Amino acid sequence: MTKTLAGKTALVTGGARGLGKAMVERLADEGALVLFNYISSSSAAEAVVAGVDARGGRAIAIQAPLEDDDSISRFAASVTATLREATGSDGLDILVNNIGGGVYGGIPMTTPEVYDHTFNNNVRVPFFLTQALLPQLRDGGRVINISSAASRLAGKDFVVYSMSKAALDMFTKVLAKELGPRGIPVNSVCPGFNATDANEHEMNDPEIRQQIEGNTLLGRFGQPEDIAGIVYALASPDGGWVTGQVIEASGGFNFLS
Ligand SMILES: NC(=O)c1ccc[n+]([C@@H]2O[C@H](COP(=O)([O-])OP(=O)(O)OC[C@H]3O[C@@H](n4cnc5c(N)ncnc54)[C@H](OP(=O)(O)O)[C@@H]3O)[C@@H](O)[C@H]2O)c1
Repeated sequence: MTKTLAGKTALVTGGARGLGKAMVERLADEGALVLFNYISSSSAAEAVVAGVDARGGRAIAIQAPLEDDDSISRFAASVTATLREATGSDGLDILVNNIGGGVYGGIPMTTPEVYDHTFNNNVRVPFFLTQALLPQLRDGGRVINISSAASRLAGKDFVVYSMSKAALDMFTKVLAKELGPRGIPVNSVCPGFNATDANEHEMNDPEIRQQIEGNTLLGRFGQPEDIAGIVYALASPDGGWVTGQVIEASGGFNFLS
C-alpha cells in the first residue's frame, strides 16, 4: 500500500530528542523524506536516522544550532542543498517549526537576557526560517508551528514563554492568510505537559506529577507520539482543510481554568 506521505519532503526543526524526534519518526514512517536539525546530540540524531532507516524510511540529520540571522541563513542553504542532492529538487512540502522552549519565571525576576533568548527561540527563529524557506515551499504544502498550551494559559510563572508562544500563534494566523492563495494550510499545535527531558523535574516529583495529571482531563502526561500524531494528521492529505488554527493537544490540561 502506498504511504500517505510518499514523495513528500519535510523539515522538522529540533528532531534529535523530545517531541521533534517523534515527529521525524512519524512523518518518515508515513513515507516522507524528513530533514531535521539539532544542536549537539549527534549520537541521538544518528540513532533517529538509523531507526527510521531500519523501518524502510529516510531521515537526514543536520547539526545546526539556530540562534541568529547567520545561523538561520546557513541552515536554510544547507536544507536547500540537502534536498537537491537527495531528490533533485529543493521543493519542501512540510515545514514543522518545532524548536523552542523557556524557563520558569514571573515578571519580577525576568531578565532582559531570558526575555530575548525566549523570544528568539520561540518567535524570531521560526519567523525568519519560514521566511527563508517560503520560496521553496511547494503549493499545497503545510506549515505547522509547535506552540504550547501556555499561549492560552497566561502563565504567571512562565510569563515570557506564554507571551512568546502567543506571538507564534499570531504568526500562524497571519501566515495562514499569506499562504492561503497557494493552498498551504498553516496551523499551531499546542502541547501541554509531555514526557520529555524538558519536564523531567515535573515527572519525577510525585506531588507536581499528581497535580499535573489531576489537572489533565485524560489523566496523564502526553507522550511525544501523541503530539506527533496530531502533526501527522495536519500534514496528511486528510488534514488539508484546516488552516489558521491554534490546536491544543494537551489531553485537556487546565481545561476549566
Ligand atoms: N516538552 C513539552 O512538554 C512541551 C510542552 C509544550 C510545548 N512544547 C514545545 O515543543 C517544542 C519541542 O519541545 P521539546 O521539549 O521536545 O524540546 P527539547 O527537548 O528542548 O529539544 C528538542 C530538540 O530540539 C533541538 N534544539 C533545541 N533548540 C535548538 C536550536 N536553537 N537550534 C537547533 N536545535 C535545537 C535539540 O537539540 P539537542 O538534542 O542537540 O540539544 C533537541 O534535539 C518546543 O517548541 C516547546 O516549546 C514542549
